[in-house]
Amino acid sequence: MSEVKELLVEELQDLLHAESQLTKALPQMVQAAHNPKLKEAFEKHLKQTEGHVERLKRAFGLLGDKAQAKPCKGMAGLIEEGQETISEGKEKGELVADLALIAAAQKIEHYEICGYGTVRALARQIGETQVATLLDHTLGEEESADYLLTEVAKPVIQDLTSNGNSDVRVERHKRSSSTAKSAAAGS
Ligand SMILES: [Fe+2]
Repeated sequence: MSEVKELLVEELQDLLHAESQLTKALPQMVQAAHNPKLKEAFEKHLKQTEGHVERLKRAFGLLGDKAQAKPCKGMAGLIEEGQETISEGKEKGELVADLALIAAAQKIEHYEICGYGTVRALARQIGETQVATLLDHTLGEEESADYLLTEVAKPVIQDLTSNGNSDVRVERHKRSSSTAKSAAAGS
């Protein structure tokens, strides 16, 4: 096997682990999202991600290799951060929590976009055009998922800014009323 093909297989093994980790993390993100459009975007990407796993398996088949996963620490770290974002979001207003979730998801998308860009280039380089086409389809879906998240974020940011940052006001109100109660209780 050429060194480039060997590298391609290794990178695909990394992506296979990344995608399968993501199929487990996305349902948690669906659950954590407040905005219905954000939930929908995550659900859509979960279905796409299951398809990405299948495409990777087909790519291994075309290359005459076993569909074996190699631990992807990058995605593991991004998912861990995403889980932190979910738990920290419980203490935040819904709009800000959703924005933080979008930020975490877009980091994941960008990681995948660069991963697929690399494997597509490697496949093209060694003349594996069918593999390159499969990877190109997935890359297109990762890019559109990223774009969709940007679109979902726009009205959320607008709501946060034009409503005088209602989320923050609620938090401030909670804080000031509890301060008033403590003062009244003489503590
Ligand atoms: Fe993917």
